[in-house]
Amino acid sequence: MVKTAATGYSPTVMVAIEQRFPESTRIISDDLAARILPAATRLRMLLWPRDLMVRITEKKVPGVWGGILCRKRYIDYRLAEAAGGQVETVVNLGAGIDTRAYRLPALARLPVFEVDLPENINAKRSRLMKVLGEVPAHVTLVPIDFDREDPGAVLASNGYAAEMRTFFIWEGVTQYLTEEGVRATMDFLAKAPAGSRLAFTYIRKDFVDGEVFYGHEYIYKTLVLKGKNWRFGMDPENVADFLSGYGWRVLEHLGFDELAERYVKPTGRKLLSMPIERMVYAEKL
Ligand SMILES: C[S@@+](CC[C@H](N)C(=O)[O-])C[C@H]1O[C@@H](n2cnc3c(N)ncnc32)[C@H](O)[C@@H]1O
Repeated sequence: MVKTAATGYSPTVMVAIEQRFPESTRIISDDLAARILPAATRLRMLLWPRDLMVRITEKKVPGVWGGILCRKRYIDYRLAEAAGGQVETVVNLGAGIDTRAYRLPALARLPVFEVDLPENINAKRSRLMKVLGEVPAHVTLVPIDFDREDPGAVLASNGYAAEMRTFFIWEGVTQYLTEEGVRATMDFLAKAPAGSRLAFTYIRKDFVDGEVFYGHEYIYKTLVLKGKNWRFGMDPENVADFLSGYGWRVLEHLGFDELAERYVKPTGRKLLSMPIERMVYAEKL
């Protein structure tokens, strides 16, 4: 059974292995990804030849390599754009071991809140202390369980100023929550000031409900049936209405093939398509 907190590491492992491609064919560049991972993971990674890792991952979970790297690249792009005056602070909901708060120059001037389960927050703090010698002053690490706690109250008690226009990241997280957990977070997002931004991913509801597998039987068996890790999905047709119920308007709603056109095609690499996860970028009205 997969432990939910442990899923915070896999995207960063993929980003770290991606750094072994020459810069011209990399989907994302991140010189912190390998260093922030625990020593044991880094040691194991030394035994994993780059192309074999991509092949094995693509075989088990078709499309996951490009899917995760493209979603990271897209959110980085939107963040850098919005950090140029559109937003005043950043909240990464379910940040896992993501590194963008520490590597994107545009974020160095903004208060950034990284929110995750206590286990991941503690692990991240200890890795940051090892790698950077500190948790940088602009970043606050916030422990929470979205299914049990109110993000507004927890963030406020950690110094988040709710009146500031905020860029919310909710990357690879919604599927792990109950519908109540998602709605509680949306209730909090409904109070964000106009002009705030939200970049989030979701898994198709027909997949989580076991109606259509999209070639992802392995993930369905592991994360939905056995592990009960993935619990929430959305129907692409309903996303705009769902968000509008909380005062948000969709600016862009993308599938993997559109992301791959932007970020994989220029590298000349051939990666499988990720049909079950989609990306949404929205603004608060
Ligand atoms: C697949 S990882 C994504 C991590 C990161 N956003 C990324 O894309 O690199 C999912 C993250 O959501 C967090 N998460 C899942 N359920 C949560 C909950 N109930 N409360 C807080 N965090 C949760 C996990 O701990 C994990 O770090």
